[in-house]
Amino acid sequence: MAEDFQKLIQQDREGRKKQIWKGTALDYLEQVRQEPGIAKLSHQRIFDTLMKSGVEEVNIEENPRYKRIFKEGKLKVFNFFKDEFFGMEKTSNNIVRYFHSASLKGEESRQVLYLVGPVGSGKSSLVERLKQGLEKEGMYVIDGCPMNEEPLHLIPRHLRKEFSKMLDVEIEGDLCPICRYRLKEEFQGRWEEMPVKKTEFSIRAKRGIGVVPPVDPNNQDTSVLIGGEDISKLDIYSEGDPRVLDLSGALNVGNRGMVEFIEVFKNETEYLHAMITATQEKHIPAPGRHGMIYVDTCIVAHSNEAEWNKFKSDHTNEAILDRIVVVKVPYNMRLSEEVKIYKKIIRNSKFNADIAPHTLEIASMFAILSRLEPTNKCDLMTKLKLYNGEEVVEKGKTKKIDVIELKEEARNEGMNGISTRFIMKALDNALSDNIADNCIHPISVRESLVQMIKETDFPEDTRKKYLEFLQDTIHKDYLDVLEKEITKAFVYSYQEQAESLFQNYLDHAEAYVTKKRVKDSSTGQELEPDESFMKSIEEQIAIIGTACDGFRQEVIAFLWSVSRKGEKISYESYEPLKEAVEKKLMASVRDVSRIITKARTRDEDQGKKYDRMVEQLIRNGYPASCVDTILKYAANNLWKD
Ligand SMILES: Nc1ncnc2c1ncn2[C@@H]1O[C@H](COP(=O)(O)OP(=O)(O)OP(=O)(O)O)[C@@H](O)[C@H]1O
Ligand SMILES: [Mg+2]
Repeated sequence: MAEDFQKLIQQDREGRKKQIWKGTALDYLEQVRQEPGIAKLSHQRIFDTLMKSGVEEVNIEENPRYKRIFKEGKLKVFNFFKDEFFGMEKTSNNIVRYFHSASLKGEESRQVLYLVGPVGSGKSSLVERLKQGLEKEGMYVIDGCPMNEEPLHLIPRHLRKEFSKMLDVEIEGDLCPICRYRLKEEFQGRWEEMPVKKTEFSIRAKRGIGVVPPVDPNNQDTSVLIGGEDISKLDIYSEGDPRVLDLSGALNVGNRGMVEFIEVFKNETEYLHAMITATQEKHIPAPGRHGMIYVDTCIVAHSNEAEWNKFKSDHTNEAILDRIVVVKVPYNMRLSEEVKIYKKIIRNSKFNADIAPHTLEIASMFAILSRLEPTNKCDLMTKLKLYNGEEVVEKGKTKKIDVIELKEEARNEGMNGISTRFIMKALDNALSDNIADNCIHPISVRESLVQMIKETDFPEDTRKKYLEFLQDTIHKDYLDVLEKEITKAFVYSYQEQAESLFQNYLDHAEAYVTKKRVKDSSTGQELEPDESFMKSIEEQIAIIGTACDGFRQEVIAFLWSVSRKGEKISYESYEPLKEAVEKKLMASVRDVSRIITKARTRDEDQGKKYDRMVEQLIRNGYPASCVDTILKYAANNLWKD
């Protein structure tokens, strides 16, 4: 065993040796000549990192769901963010746009990137992702420089123009006081002999990545930002000797990469000025009497909206405001994406319970409802479904409400409501209430949300609204889902039956519309379209009387348009008919499933059917331990006696 350890250690060491590049400034010049990109500035470096993983341009036209959500707009998906961030297309686009313009050295490269959004909307995670991206990057630095300086700074002013031409790079920035001192004292000005090495960005080692946490207001010490003077050395060296400098502030260590300001506006204005000077002038003061130091870093700040509004309303802050690029990080508003957020968080945690179908959907539904602003165009559940790209059917027709218009009338949507963390807590609570079964399901999660809402200190009207979502809106929606789930477990080969009802309906409706007869597939007999069969489907979605005629026309028009395009159709193709077919199936087994589910005692036949249903539910993904609870819930809530 020890040999194995030894081998692994050896291999690792040798692998690392190869990666380390060391040389002189002269050697470095040759490196730059071969690959000028290695000398790029911070914004360019981050932009390149972002783009390296690739961009996908999604063809909205080809995806009906996207088409409803995004309309004609283009949808760019950046792979850099894709696997970890959901429903954030706009935010990630804006972030990339900032880095793009900043990489072109425009005004943006001299401005702070500021992310604002409600608690738990993903601000910190976005910044974390940027930092992780940098960590994979390498950079050449002056060996021994506390600020990991770009070695090109060594080139004296009067030679820069020429070198710039030879190397095909722009040279900007000046040596830090420490390197300047070394150059003079140790190398007697022979700058080309100064040591250079290649190193990597590192969050932990604070190399190229600095972080400024909100500072205790009673202890506003700028050393957090720009470092200080080492008191123990003050006795040894004379005043003004740069060797006393301890350049370990966030803006020092973040040179070449980025500096994150957490809860930025909690800091004193003095701090903010240092932050602004660093971006605007690309210089920061050196501690003590050492003049200014050149820095090249991207400043990424974030905070919640309350802090931002407070800061914004103060006129004395105008100068700072003008130097900030604001990117909103609202909550996600798409159900499908919200579910992915919790799946991701759960995947990355120790949460290992069984999760019954629709559990995360119910929790996500609540989160999104709480974030929606009311509209007079539809109710909130409809809005939620429209935002999710679903078709909402009313009186046999899909609702024609434009999602873009809905979004435009609610510009501040997503900046309020329930946070991802609140939902995660509810999932955790639901689990600890049911630790024996190690399982959570829609009923327990809804229960735990209700409990938390009651216990949390919300304003009275908010609390009322939230409870109504849970106890009324979501409750009703879940009952619909549940009935469908039970039908699916009950009806032998649900899919096929739905398909065959659908096909049958199409045959008859087509014959009806074209005034032809239907050919019976088994006997070959020609029959009149079956009026009562069609009606039995149509009445499921309240289409009766004269409305039937129009509905059949629409169905057939749809059918033809789809087959003209050569697309395959299924019972799910046309939303109103899908709903009708499903309801018809539900109705066909409602009595039996009700009796069997509700029965206190079952005869042999009923018992068999019940067991088969339970088995099917388990096959459909329900953890065995919660099937009973769910069926009991159905028995008590679904079918009113
Ligand atoms: N749209 C989203 N996509 C993926 N994950 C998300 C999204 N929104 C939030 N999260 C996740 O929710 C959790 C909380 O997010 P994070 O800590 O980044 O929020 P924050 O905006 O910094 O909040 P705060 O203002 O409280 O600091 C994280 O695990 C984060 O990854
Ligand atoms: Mg945060």
